Amino acid sequence: MLADIDALKAEIEDAVEAAPDLGRLEQLRVELLGKKGRVTELVKGVSSLPPEERPKAGQAFNQLKRQIEEVLAERRTALADEALHARLLAERIDVTLPARPRAEGRIHPVSQVTDELTAIFADMGFAVAEGPDIENDFHNFTALNFPPEHPARDMHDTFFLEAEENGRPLLLRTHTSTIQVRHMMANKPPYRIIAPGRTYRCDSDATHTPMFHQVEGLVIDRRTHMGHLKGCLIDFVRAYFERDDITARFRPSFFPFTEPSAEMDIGCRRTKEEIVVGEGSDWLEILGCGMVHPNVLRAVGLDPAEWQGFAFGMGIDRIAMLKYGMPDLRPFFEADLAWLRHYGFVPLDLPTTFGGLTR
Ligand code: DAH
Repeated sequence: MLADIDALKAEIEDAVEAAPDLGRLEQLRVELLGKKGRVTELVKGVSSLPPEERPKAGQAFNQLKRQIEEVLAERRTALADEALHARLLAERIDVTLPARPRAEGRIHPVSQVTDELTAIFADMGFAVAEGPDIENDFHNFTALNFPPEHPARDMHDTFFLEAEENGRPLLLRTHTSTIQVRHMMANKPPYRIIAPGRTYRCDSDATHTPMFHQVEGLVIDRRTHMGHLKGCLIDFVRAYFERDDITARFRPSFFPFTEPSAEMDIGCRRTKEEIVVGEGSDWLEILGCGMVHPNVLRAVGLDPAEWQGFAFGMGIDRIAMLKYGMPDLRPFFEADLAWLRHYGFVPLDLPTTFGGLTR
């Protein structure tokens, strides 16, 4: 009988050792030690033995039970380790692999240049303001000191809409100067904003499209003067074109909403094919600017004796063409994939003044 125990023990150990996974191991445990398990039945059988054999048999079976529990536990640990090891192998990540391929798609030059100029002006403390594309006569003209019936209103080849407000047609804004008016009416001075956005004029050729982009700038404070205007804009063009040697001049001009008004030229060299900014002895007009007209300040409820400052307006598409050597404006808005791949920018390379505007 006790000799049988050794044989049984050896048999069970082999079976446990051969169990391929935790499921089979649990099955074995039930077969051996469960309520009706083989070893459980043996232990139960002790009571039917002659009394003098019982203590020895009982001891032997209990020992067998413990030993089986031990080998089961060992095998369980071994199987769990194996499973973990297999999982770690399967889920291993090779951190030395190269990064994913570059994102598909390109950032449109208008978005890129808008981000670039926003980064530059943000560094100078400007906030970004916005306004609607559909405007009324007041924000586009009247508040900006265009007198009624003044020919300057025609200067802009305005797209008028059928809908009217106060007896005057609504329109697609012809410039982003509307946003100065909105911003000054909605906020308290001082102001230091830029307002990039879409603008519309009935015009179309190689350098004009019916929809284009402008950025408006406005600085109003108690002591702002023309020197601030010049310093700010010269700093801007040097940062934008990424050259410290760009020369500039300010030519007298006319805008209803500024007095005095000026146009800013930057030094350039013209060849048959291209315009190189920052070299040569030619001049290139780059933006309009001036000291905000007292009538504009009055129109938005400010006292011109207390508050004054400057404004400027610049074509975003135009400065994009200049910086990136694009000869024709029309393809900007044709959604031509080949053009976008050629002139577009890599996504996620955000322009910053500290990390570089373009890489
Ligand atoms: N609004 C003008 C335009 O569309 C550009 C401009 C010129 C804006 C001078 C200004 C400025 O703020 O001061 O042609």
